[in-house]
Amino acid sequence: MQTIIVTGGAGYIGSHTIIELINQTTYDIVSIDNFSNSTPQTFDRIEAITGKRIRNLNVDICNLEALEFAISSIKFPIIGIIHFAAFKAVGDSVLNPLSYYHNNLESLINVLKICKLKNIHNFIFSSSCSVYGNVDQLPVTEETPFAPAESPYAHTKQIGEDILINVTKSEHTFKSVLLRYFNPVGAHLSGLNGELSKDKPNNLVPFITQSAAGILPPLTVFGGDYDTRDGSCIRDYIHVSDIADAHVKALNYLIENKQKQSTSIFNLGTGNGVSVFEAIHSFEKVTNQKLNYSVGPRRSGDVIKIYANNNFAMQELHWVPKYNLDDMMLSAWKWQLNCI
Ligand SMILES: NC(=O)c1ccc[n+]([C@@H]2O[C@H](COP(=O)([O-])OP(=O)(O)OC[C@H]3O[C@@H](n4cnc5c(N)ncnc54)[C@H](O)[C@@H]3O)[C@@H](O)[C@H]2O)c1
Repeated sequence: MQTIIVTGGAGYIGSHTIIELINQTTYDIVSIDNFSNSTPQTFDRIEAITGKRIRNLNVDICNLEALEFAISSIKFPIIGIIHFAAFKAVGDSVLNPLSYYHNNLESLINVLKICKLKNIHNFIFSSSCSVYGNVDQLPVTEETPFAPAESPYAHTKQIGEDILINVTKSEHTFKSVLLRYFNPVGAHLSGLNGELSKDKPNNLVPFITQSAAGILPPLTVFGGDYDTRDGSCIRDYIHVSDIADAHVKALNYLIENKQKQSTSIFNLGTGNGVSVFEAIHSFEKVTNQKLNYSVGPRRSGDVIKIYANNNFAMQELHWVPKYNLDDMMLSAWKWQLNCI
């Protein structure tokens, strides 16, 4: 038996990835999560879907001593780490930059120290399309140069990538994959697991579902006069289970030594740009209800249009996103109804 550590395993993407790891591999999986943005009930949901109880080490990854102690309880050899744990709210990072630099970078450095200490050679890092900033060239490829980060959060991902590239260069046996997610949305198709942020949602889809459920006021679309096909902003929404599947494929890629460089970087998006109005119309179609929304002024800091070139992930990882926009909206709505 070999162990895969999933940091942030109680969170949105971490929990969906654990479900895919259970379904597709035989590894022993251990989560490390201090529930700063999640709850222990995530593990009940994973168990309801997969029949398997996952062990979580409740420790702040920024505390190296506590982390080392917790990890010493893992009895099998640790073959890889998938590192999700981070703070992710872009707006909050503008208000509280130090807490983002501290949590996102200190946790990464500590997990890398553990890799060195325990001879763990395979590492997957959650990066983000926000590393690209405001780009001119679309679709975005992995080679598209970074523009300045639009927020401290995005900056932590740029720095995190640099840290990993340098650490990987200096350690000959250490290999890493950096996955740049575009806009992960939706929920497990059962509707039993989905995004459960402790604060106000940061993304369009939970805003849509919570406003349709009457939890949030009617939705405001920020800007209807952009130079896009219908005037609203364009994003590359990708189903969270497709993102999770890419992690399993990236893990196999590392463990089977298929990578050409010690650090490989992949965009994870569908490659399709979807406007805010198109997302709303998909929601209305699959749920058969009208959404109450209005168009407001543009929001400062919003990128107008971004979507991925995902060819590299498709070629190298043999990853093909399975779910379309309607699947994303319907699963998110099923999850929302389960949360009420
Ligand atoms: N969701 C998105 O839209 C998105 C997009 C791009 C990149 N990402 C990145 O993907 C990763 C996962 O995102 P998510 O949406 O699942 O977020 P999430 O907040 O749902 O999950 C993160 C988990 O990490 C835990 N955590 C945070 N700091 C910790 C610490 N110091 N010690 C222990 N546990 C800690 C939280 O409790 C939470 O359960 C993050 O690194 C995020 O920046 C997310």
